[in-house]
Amino acid sequence: MSNLINVTINNIPLQVEEGKTILEAAKMLNIHIPVLCHHKDLCVAGNCRICVVEVEKDPYLVAACAIPVREGMNILTNTKKIRDARKHILELLLTEHNINCIKCCKSSSCELQNLALEYRLDEELFINLLQDIPVDDSSPAIIKDDTKCIRCTRCVRTCDELQGVNALAMSQKGRHTKMSTYLEKPLADVVCTNCGQCINRCPTGALTEKSYVEQVWEAIYDPSKFVVVQTAPAVRFAVGELFHVRPGARVTGRMVASLRAMGFDAVLDTDFTADLTIIEEGTELLTRLKKALVDRDKSVALPMFSSCSPGWIKFIEHQYPELLPNLSTCKSPQQMFGALAKTFYAKKREIDPANMVSVSIMPCTAKKFEANRPEMRDSGYKDVDYVLTTREFASMIHHSGIDVLTLKNEEFDNIMGASTGAAVIFGATGGVMEAALRTAYQIVTGKDVPFEGINITPIRGFQGVKQASLVIEGTLPEWKFLEGVELKVAVAHGLKNAHKLIQGLKSGEIEAHFVEIMACPGGCIGGGGQPIPTNIDIRTARMEGTYKADSKMLLRKSHENPEVQALYEEFLGKPNGHLSHELLHTYYTERFKY
Ligand code: FES
Repeated sequence: MSNLINVTINNIPLQVEEGKTILEAAKMLNIHIPVLCHHKDLCVAGNCRICVVEVEKDPYLVAACAIPVREGMNILTNTKKIRDARKHILELLLTEHNINCIKCCKSSSCELQNLALEYRLDEELFINLLQDIPVDDSSPAIIKDDTKCIRCTRCVRTCDELQGVNALAMSQKGRHTKMSTYLEKPLADVVCTNCGQCINRCPTGALTEKSYVEQVWEAIYDPSKFVVVQTAPAVRFAVGELFHVRPGARVTGRMVASLRAMGFDAVLDTDFTADLTIIEEGTELLTRLKKALVDRDKSVALPMFSSCSPGWIKFIEHQYPELLPNLSTCKSPQQMFGALAKTFYAKKREIDPANMVSVSIMPCTAKKFEANRPEMRDSGYKDVDYVLTTREFASMIHHSGIDVLTLKNEEFDNIMGASTGAAVIFGATGGVMEAALRTAYQIVTGKDVPFEGINITPIRGFQGVKQASLVIEGTLPEWKFLEGVELKVAVAHGLKNAHKLIQGLKSGEIEAHFVEIMACPGGCIGGGGQPIPTNIDIRTARMEGTYKADSKMLLRKSHENPEVQALYEEFLGKPNGHLSHELLHTYYTERFKY
């Protein structure tokens, strides 16, 4: 156990572990110190100085987020000197800040705006130095507005420390310092994966998602359009946070009711195609294993990589194009849904797909990019027309004046509305793998996967890279070649961990037949479109909610989904069959490296 240090904060004595910062010590006493550059998920930057406090006998104010406590320290957090200093810092930041706040989508959730209100900045002490820098809206997913940047570097640290992508960096000097990309190219032309993790940590409106809310309202108000909406597994465990519900609380019934109240014509579930993905992806894995083990086909790419996360897909296209054959050809559940909505669903409901508008509500900003890929038009139309984040969805609920908390729970429509517990856990890192193993093991042996309660715990949780294996025993005749095979799997979340896993595979340190990688920390529950703020406590609560919901489901294996079974009988034929390949599978493209 580390040494305890005696300090006082605002004259309150406190014992605190050596190495803790003043900020952490103050938190133990529920004393609030404002921060801007500091973020719990990131290393200390100490560059904004808004967290300054007084330390007795120290002539200068010190940054609470960066300075560790020392024995005997007497700390004051709320003196006139501190308040004046913080006001001056805020005033200086605002001289270079675009304060057209009423038009900013971060208004009311902007950390800078909140502090400006809290510190009552009523007089302008400094001249306006706002520069005229054009907004970068080149990406279909993310908008970068340098006029709102306070150079806290949270985005740069996120892109480096959490994601290992380094699409963003600080460039130039002095007041010309700015967050930039390689050679100041537009975001659409660099290695950005559109994961949106920078948005989740940006304290202002300098980085935001590109919004399609207005286009969706227009479609809803247009009587000639039939507007179908799908909701991703992780949305229901987080959207409640934007209505003061605790993180991780499942609000599926109210989410469905609010979508219907807003005017969507059909309220359907991406969980349905999450189950479908497992059937397609599981079949693809077993086919690859058969080719490798029985046919001794050396051209088969193993391990197979999951392909549900569009941020991960763009990452591998940029960073590891030599591994593209290892990617499953399955589209993500969002895109499988889109392709089926304008074919299978339209046919069943006798709707002209030309008049259909397909909307998805996702925890993810990269899904906006994915929906815009030119190859995602296998239905003959754009498979998914508009992607909204969880945050945009919540803003639509607010616009429509719906009191979501008083709505009665409602069920998804039938036809593409049913799901299992396996689909529910898609939202958490390891969930796709767990769902795939539950189904693949049963297909091969006729038995449940040999983990207590079919909970594959070694691949759950927040460890960056997770591994598990299971020996396949008692195979059915068709799968005899797998008898006794030790099936090895590996899982990573956050793209920095994807780098680690891939390096492990390349060096031989990690062995796997199947690999799941999710771009965002914690998987989709920590997606770039989820409610802000994000931190490990919030992501943990969302993950716990996910597994709890799965454990309560009657059906917990994707192949048990009755609507998926009916889809194969009535429309697709068989998994990985001709129509499946036409509608549900895709290809990948090598991309530039800068
Ligand atoms: Fe401490 Fe920025 S929050 S220096």
